[in-house]
Order: sequence, then C-alpha cells, then structure tokens
Amino acid sequence: MFPTKALLSLLLVALATVDATPLKRDTGKATLSFAAKVNARAASNIAAADRARAQQMRQAASKGKRAGATSFSITNGAMDYTAQVGVGSPATEYTLLIDTGSSNTWVGADQAYNPTSTSEDTGNTVSVSYGSGSFSGEEYTDTVTLTSGLTITQQSIGVATTSEGFEGVDGILGVGPTDLTEGTVSNTDEVPTVTDNLYSQGTIGADVLGIYFVPASESNSNGELTFGGTDTSVTTGDITYTPLTTTEPASYYWGINQSIAYGGTTILDETAGIVDTGMTLSTSGLMLFTDAFSQYESATGGTMDETTGLLTITSEQYDNLQTLTFNVGGTSYDLTPNAQIWPRSLNTALGGNADSIYLIVSDIGTASGSGLDFINGYTFLERYYSVFDTGNSQVGFATTSYTDATTN
Ligand SMILES: *[C@@H]1O[C@H](CO)[C@@H](O)[C@H](O)[C@H]1NC(C)=O
Repeated sequence: MFPTKALLSLLLVALATVDATPLKRDTGKATLSFAAKVNARAASNIAAADRARAQQMRQAASKGKRAGATSFSITNGAMDYTAQVGVGSPATEYTLLIDTGSSNTWVGADQAYNPTSTSEDTGNTVSVSYGSGSFSGEEYTDTVTLTSGLTITQQSIGVATTSEGFEGVDGILGVGPTDLTEGTVSNTDEVPTVTDNLYSQGTIGADVLGIYFVPASESNSNGELTFGGTDTSVTTGDITYTPLTTTEPASYYWGINQSIAYGGTTILDETAGIVDTGMTLSTSGLMLFTDAFSQYESATGGTMDETTGLLTITSEQYDNLQTLTFNVGGTSYDLTPNAQIWPRSLNTALGGNADSIYLIVSDIGTASGSGLDFINGYTFLERYYSVFDTGNSQVGFATTSYTDATTN
C-alpha cells in the first residue's frame, strides 16, 4: 500500500526545517513552530484520499460513534505538517503530525518509544484508526515537552505497539476537540488533550490554540502553533469569531456554519462543515459537497485530471478565475484566484505535470445536507490565521500577509 521506508526517505522533499529557537512567550501563551514538507506517499489521486477522510468522518456519526474511535484518512496526503515534540525526562524527540481532526497524542510509529523515569504505563489499551492508517498499543502518562518552557506533566499518550500508514513520522500531536478521544482508551471516558493539560496545569492562560500556516510554496514554510492565545505579530486584522456549529456530525470536529460564493454567485447556501488541519495532509485541502463542486467546475471550466483527481485549467481560464468567498457569521473571507490553485512549483510532487494548473477545490463525494458539507483545509488556513477556542466553543479567523499573496 505504501512505498518502503527507504524509498520514502528519498522521496520526501524537505521544504523547511524546524526553527531551533521556536519559543515566544507572552503572558500565558507560548508559540511552537512547525515544519511543512511534501509527502511523496501521496503521489496519486490525493483528492480521493481527501474524500475518504470526509466520508469516514460522516460515517462515524451515522453509526452513532464518535469519530475518534473510528476511522478517517490522515496520512495519505501531499503535505505533512510536523512538530518536534519531546517525551520523557530526559526527553526523546519525536516527529509528530499536527492534526486538528483527531485528539489523541501518540508516539512509536517510526521511532520506538523510549521510556524514562517519568513514564508510567496506565495499564489501559488504546486504539485509533484513521482510514488509511491506524495504531494500537498501550496508554502511558509521561512528561511532554512541546518546546522549551512548554512542558506538560503526566500527559496521557498512546504508545504504539502496532501502527500502519505512518512511515517517516513517529505519531500524532492531536489538537482536535477533546470529545474525539471518547472510546479510544479502555476504562477511560475522555483523554485530556495537550492543550487541555497546558491550561489545567496553569502553563497557559486560556484553553485556546492559534494556528498560522505559511503557504507550502514559500521557501520558509514553517508554521506556528500558539497555545493559550494568538500571535498578533502575524495577523494583519482583527480575529473574528464564530460559534461552533450545533449540526452533527460537523459538531464533533471544529465545525462551523458557512456559505460559499464564486464570483459573487452563491454556490453553497449556509450549511455546516469543518475547519480541519488534518486536510493539510491531503492535497486539495478544500472540499465542497457535490452540488456546489459541480457549479464550481462549470463556472471555472476545469476538467478532471485522472492522475491527481484535481480539476485542471488552462492559463486563459486561470486569468478568468473569480474570487471564491466564504461567508462565516456575516464576515466574508476571500480566496483569490491564486489561492485556489495548487502551488505550481510542487505540481510534480502530486504526480502532476510541471506546466499544468490544478485547482485545489475538490468534490466531497456526497450531496448537500449531510451535516458535513465542506472542509476548509490547509489551502484556506494558509491564507487565514485560525483560532480554535475550546473554552468559549468558537473558531476565529484573521487575515495575514499571505491572505492576498501570489505565492502559487
Ligand atoms: C448553524 O446552522 C444550523 C442549521 O441551519 C442551525 O440550526 C444553527 O443554529 C446554526 N448555528 C449554529 C451556531 O449552530
């Protein structure tokens, strides 16, 4: 299913390295930088992988189960966003995928867990499946160091005894809503996330996570996770908040209500969907339900490319591309034409042609009304700073210097 590890390491193209001194500390918050790299595991039809994740997220709810206990695709995408996280004392460094669409933090996929004096086996088992990947093992508590000065004691973490689909990374830093951990660990109701524990242990002043993505095509594509607040040095406007949606299954995730227009014409009436950095791991990172996608497809004139699963357009059609507008709680967020295309410098990482232009909007695979009708993935999040506010049950967005940048 996946290439061997040796082949993979040859294929991985590192676009950035982790900043050696990532901590910036204000009162009650701290910032950790993370790296983006192209993941060549994704070299065929990533739109299909995105679709699989969306479908699994919906199915989780229709079966009456929380999604954390079931499956969706996480590792099959074109981009990996990873952070270096220390576990134990002295700490061993692990490379963990950052995911707002799941909430268990775990290690041991690639590099084995190295227990130290702070490691405690809880005796409970853990199991999470992500569609194309999964892990199961033993639940421990241990000291987790996100970056110097940002340390959690007795964080509940999974230690994989078996895992599949995580070649080249050691596990996941799960920063989704806490309820996604329900049913994942034996004898346990919910597992507090790293953000929850930073807050309950008094390290940060609010149960809030701010995320800053830098477009993957930038030479320094490091992003930032700010625990406990937001980093106003990278936002260029106010953060506008919207309440989490009450519509299931979007409400299990970072779900919001939103409508979408293309060139001023509404293609999606207000409906529920999610904001998902797990989609950062997939290519398109922006999915619309089938009816809206069909309208987008005909309005742009795009044709389906079988290799990548993405729409491709001519340069003339690119010149005519209109703004895609997301309306969230009365505020409009525009995606410029340039923000709607996959970075051309990275076309070949998808198995695409260097000279083609691919659109990053893809089909979620079902008709509207599913309760999860869109996914605002990394292509949206690299244009707008995002804030995941557990304490106040809301999500916020703000413009950055990349909102209107021509980087693709
Ligand atoms: C979101 O949309 C649903 C369905 O229209 C509605 O019931 C709900 O009140 C809206 N707002 C929130 C915050 O869920």
